[in-house]
Amino acid sequence: MSGLTTTEAPFIEACQQSGELFIRQPYDLYTLENHWTWRRLFTRMKPRWSRYANPRFLEGIDSLRLDPDRVPRLDDINRLLHPLTGFRARAVSGYVPAFRFFDCLRNREFPTTITIRRGDRLDYLPEPDIFHDIAGHVPMHTDPRFADALVRLGDCAHTAAARPRALPSVVKAMARFFWFTVEFGLMQCADGLKVYGSGLLSSYGEIEHAIESPEVQRSPLQLEWVIHQAFEIDRYQPLLFVVESFEHLFDLVDQLEGWMRDGRLDNVAPGEPEVKQQDLDSFLATS
Ligand SMILES: [Fe+2]
Repeated sequence: MSGLTTTEAPFIEACQQSGELFIRQPYDLYTLENHWTWRRLFTRMKPRWSRYANPRFLEGIDSLRLDPDRVPRLDDINRLLHPLTGFRARAVSGYVPAFRFFDCLRNREFPTTITIRRGDRLDYLPEPDIFHDIAGHVPMHTDPRFADALVRLGDCAHTAAARPRALPSVVKAMARFFWFTVEFGLMQCADGLKVYGSGLLSSYGEIEHAIESPEVQRSPLQLEWVIHQAFEIDRYQPLLFVVESFEHLFDLVDQLEGWMRDGRLDNVAPGEPEVKQQDLDSFLATS
């Protein structure tokens, strides 16, 4: 019984084959093992969130009333989330090309994976799953300032699409910014350094490593550095960037958009991430 297990779900394969990107969440397909996997992931993260997550994330977990025992229903989450910031989680069948992804953010929609990783591989993630997307990302979307920063990132994608000549470099810069903030960002809070990046918030091992390990270099976020900094996705991050607040994060996105308009992202340093043709095409398709 594969149910809605990552890379093993016939329902998802059928959606992909018929070209459906935005899909429903066929809740009855989750198996007992899928729910059991959610419970184990959620239960072991809880004490680490209390210790390492920023306060707005913890409030988000509470206000969305995430059930520790069962895979969440997106409709239930959206009923609580939408009145707070206008955001909704929207089920997708797989990879969302970059422009479409950012455009969803601009419309306060978060493309959300509905499959869950295998129960015997809790720490191995071949691709995002519902635990990463719902337990890692969505609680942050309850914060109005963070939500506004995501919308502003969506605006950036439209600015990028209007200047197609430098797209490979500009998209690389956007991907790096997203990685070092939304996915792996740290924040200086009243009681110390806390995590707000979803890649960390959904990783049992790395959330602790990010805060405690002497091997991690933690620097105040400087836009100049972030846009030129390569990263690798298949290891604990050796370098993390710290913001002061979500207002600060919003201002940085604003600055990113200004630099984009001024051509300052047109020649960023080469290196990871590789920008896929599919992502470039998604920007070109808008013009
Ligand atoms: Fe993510």
